[in-house]
Amino acid sequence: MKILVVYMSPTGNTKKVAESIFKEITETKHIMNLSAINSLDDYDFTFIGFPIHAFGPVKEGKEFLEKKARGKKVALFVTHGVHENHKDLNNWLGRCKAAAAGAKLAGMFNCQGEVAPEILESLGKSGDPDLLSLCNFTDQSRGQPDENRLIKARAFACEMIEIIKGEKIGGRTYHGFQVNKTGATTQRDV
Ligand SMILES: Cc1cc2nc3c(=O)[nH]c(=O)nc-3n(C[C@H](O)[C@H](O)[C@H](O)COP(=O)(O)O)c2cc1C
Repeated sequence: MKILVVYMSPTGNTKKVAESIFKEITETKHIMNLSAINSLDDYDFTFIGFPIHAFGPVKEGKEFLEKKARGKKVALFVTHGVHENHKDLNNWLGRCKAAAAGAKLAGMFNCQGEVAPEILESLGKSGDPDLLSLCNFTDQSRGQPDENRLIKARAFACEMIEIIKGEKIGGRTYHGFQVNKTGATTQRDV
């Protein structure tokens, strides 16, 4: 079995999650930047990661899911600046999931990632009231994803691999939703 971890990470948070997931994979594995991948045909399963930008999947992540992940067995991992308990987060994650509608989605992991100071400055200058309101999460996001969240990412990777090995993808559908101690969530639709 060949497993790919592919990610986009302009400020490094999603990359940390990608590397944690990668560590847990005991099968043949590769880790690549999203821009370097033209096709997932060579892989049996792909973990795809990117950040939330402007209340939904970053453009490159959305396009990758829509064009290259169609029909493929995948799991998503997403980082965002707000805490996992933020009231609008499920909507934004829903947009990520919608972009993966053509893929066989085994599960989805999300966690908070630090908003880089230069990003906060530019969001602050944007003039968009919604983006301005995001600036209020500076302090809470500092240092994220922390070790606790990365441990949850590794647990997610193990769970996904168990599912792949059990070949449950594409079978019966049920919704499992687990909220862990840090508030990071694992959502599973298999
Ligand atoms: C242009 C831009 C827009 C963003 N919009 C949001 C947003 O709508 N909601 C949110 O929670 N975080 C938002 N963020 C914060 C990032 O999602 C967060 O810092 C993420 O962990 C960055 O991942 P990366 O380090 O892999 O790039 C935004 C960041 C940027 C640069």
